[in-house]
Amino acid sequence: MELFEKKFYESMSSKVALLNRITYYIVNRKGKQMRPMFVFLAAKLLNNGEVNERTYRGASVIELIHTATLVHDDVVDDSNKRRGFFSVNALWKNKIAVLVGDYLLSKGLLLSIDNEDFDLLKIISVAVREMSEGELLQIEKARRLDITEDVYYDIIRQKTATLIAACCSLGACSVKPGSTDVETFRKFGELIGMAFQIKDDLFDYGEEQIGKPTGIDIKEQKMTLPLIHVLNNCTKSEKKWLINSIKNHNKDKKRVKEVIGFVKENGGLEYAVKKMLAYKQEALNLLAAYPDSDYKNSLELMVNYVVDRKK
Ligand code: IPE
Ligand code: IPE
Ligand code: MG
Ligand code: MG
Repeated sequence: MELFEKKFYESMSSKVALLNRITYYIVNRKGKQMRPMFVFLAAKLLNNGEVNERTYRGASVIELIHTATLVHDDVVDDSNKRRGFFSVNALWKNKIAVLVGDYLLSKGLLLSIDNEDFDLLKIISVAVREMSEGELLQIEKARRLDITEDVYYDIIRQKTATLIAACCSLGACSVKPGSTDVETFRKFGELIGMAFQIKDDLFDYGEEQIGKPTGIDIKEQKMTLPLIHVLNNCTKSEKKWLINSIKNHNKDKKRVKEVIGFVKENGGLEYAVKKMLAYKQEALNLLAAYPDSDYKNSLELMVNYVVDRKK
C-alpha cells in the first residue's frame, strides 16, 4: 500500500498549480483505501501472492475514479464534509469541484490507455457508466418518492457495487486475463458492494462521527432501505405523514429527526442490517470455493470489515 500511495499521488500530477494544490489537499485526507486493497488481494489470491505493474495501475485507476466520484457526489448531494474535513466544493465551490472531478476521471482513464491496459479499461469504463446511471436513477426516484426495495437495490448496485465489482474483477484480470475467475470475482465484489452501501446508508441514521455529515439523506430526499422497509410496513396514515415529511418538510431539522425516530422505532435499521449480512454471507460463500491462503484470510477480514466498520 505504501508503494501504491506513491504511484497514486504521482498519477494525479498536473502543470496547473491550482490543480496540484487541490490534489495535494485530497491525498492528504486519504480515505480507507478499501478499493485498492480489494484489487491487490484479488490478484494475490489468484496468483500465489504475486502482483504486477498492471495490478498497481489498475488500483490507481480505481482510486482515481473513486476520488473523482466523491468530489462530484458532494456537489450533487450539496455536502460540505468529507473524510473529516471540508469537501472540495465547500472550499473551492462547485465550479472547481466539477472540473477537478473531470480531471481525475480523465487521468484515471489515461493511465490505462497510455499503458495499453485495454482489458482493464473496459472493466473500468463499464463501472463509470453505471455509476453515473445509478446516481441519476437515484435523483429520478428522489423526485417521485415512489422507490421500491428492488429499485433501491438497482440504485446501489449501479452507484456503488459496480465499482467494487470492478476492483475485484480487475485485480483478477491483471494477473489472469481471460480466466473464469474474472467473472467470479466481479460477482464477489458486487455482493460486497451491496453490503457496503447498505452500511453507508445505515451510518446516515446514526449519530457517530464518520467524517461526513449524517442525517442528510432524507434532507436530499434520498430514500434508503431502512425508510423503504418502514414505508412498506406502516399504516396508510403513517405513510402519508412520512411522504409528506420528506416531500414538503425535508429541510425542517425537527421533522427530519422525527422521521428518523419513526424509522428506528419501526425496525427499519434491523431490517437493513439483516439484508446487509445476507449479502456479506453470499460474498463469503463465493470465496469459500477457493483454496485456503493468507490472501483468502485477508479477503475474508476485508468482507467482515465492510459490515463492522466504524466509518
Ligand atoms: C464512500 O466510499 C462512497 C460510497 C460509495 C458510500 P468510502 O467510504 O470507501 O470512502 P473513503 O474513500 O473511505 O473516504
Ligand atoms: C455513494 O452514495 C455515492 C457514490 C457512488 C460516490 P452516497 O452519496 O451515500 O455516498 P456518501 O455518503 O456521500 O459518501
Ligand atoms: Mg453523498
Ligand atoms: Mg451516504
